[in-house]
Amino acid sequence: MNKKILVTGGTGYIGSHTVAELITDGFEVAIIDNLYNSEAVVADRIGQITGVRPELEVFDLCNEARLEDFFRKHNDISAIIHFAAYKAVGESVRKPLEYYRNNLLSLINLLEAMKRHDIASMVFSSSCTVYGQPEKLPVSEDAPLQPAKSPYGNTKKIGEDIIRDTCEADDKIKAISLRYFNPIGAHPTALIGELPRGVPENLVPFITQTAYGLRDELKVFGDDYDTPDGSCIRDYLHVVDLARAHIVALKRLLENKNKKNYEVFNLGTGTGVSVFEAIKSFERATGVKLKYRVTSRRPGDIEKIWADPSLANRELGWKTIYTLDDAMKSAWEWEKFIRKQNRS
Ligand code: UD1
Repeated sequence: MNKKILVTGGTGYIGSHTVAELITDGFEVAIIDNLYNSEAVVADRIGQITGVRPELEVFDLCNEARLEDFFRKHNDISAIIHFAAYKAVGESVRKPLEYYRNNLLSLINLLEAMKRHDIASMVFSSSCTVYGQPEKLPVSEDAPLQPAKSPYGNTKKIGEDIIRDTCEADDKIKAISLRYFNPIGAHPTALIGELPRGVPENLVPFITQTAYGLRDELKVFGDDYDTPDGSCIRDYLHVVDLARAHIVALKRLLENKNKKNYEVFNLGTGTGVSVFEAIKSFERATGVKLKYRVTSRRPGDIEKIWADPSLANRELGWKTIYTLDDAMKSAWEWEKFIRKQNRS
């Protein structure tokens, strides 16, 4: 079996952890990344972790001619894991056209290139955001999808539609969309992790930056929700568990074990965790006391969502291994590593 995989966005948060798992599993990896939200040094750090530095080509997937050159040069790619996308919910509301252009044009360019170069398999990075606020919890893959609350969320929904329609029209193309719940944490070596630009929008980077003293306090967005402690509930999973799921999804396609040309799986722990519980977990795992204050709700937030991961458990043989405390501890180790790097 040819084992060269193209990972787009492979220097990003989830991409880098997946590349490390792929290399450890014996795959050869070529990364395409425009470094919009990441740094080339990540490829070196993956090299430190695995002993093999992945090849990194820096360009934008919206550049069709450049992408065609890439596939001419790399004529031995057997599958694509597609992460590259803009991902900031708030920014997407301010810059919808940039989000639609970047996230959708890059996907279309890749699918067209797959057809031209006879590449059959794609694993796509989707999100639980496609469910909106589900009526039934835990939410399973057959739950009705709801209109997206942000252009970012809509690009995930439309991205899934584009891939499904492509798989339906062309039986030589097959794909798996993975709907992530809330990925957190970092690699156990603390050499790779999440690197938010500017002030983090997401909970865990905000927690670790506050603990480090970069932010005054964490704002808990609302304690008047209809949940046991009043704060929102999410399903936080360790990024290394999430990365592992991509390897099993990829192998399912490469080994023709997929049941349909297009499949969708939820990736979560199956357990809902409130914002207050997340804070307690961070404090327990690290021994660091966090300064926080309850403020008003954040517009667009969903009250509660957690996954029914039983389809992925059954069909992919995948389930999460790391605990919430493990994830918090690793996020903290990463925060400390990255601050030390920035000082030296
Ligand atoms: C959002 C997106 C999701 C996307 C993810 C990662 C939606 C509905 N969700 O998830 O699609 O994949 O970002 O970019 O668009 N919180 C605080 N204080 C903070 C930050 C967050 O209390 O400073 C709370 C939020 O209210 C929420 C929870 O923490 O209840 C998690 O927030 P966040 O990490 O931003 O993720 P989501 O909003 O769930």
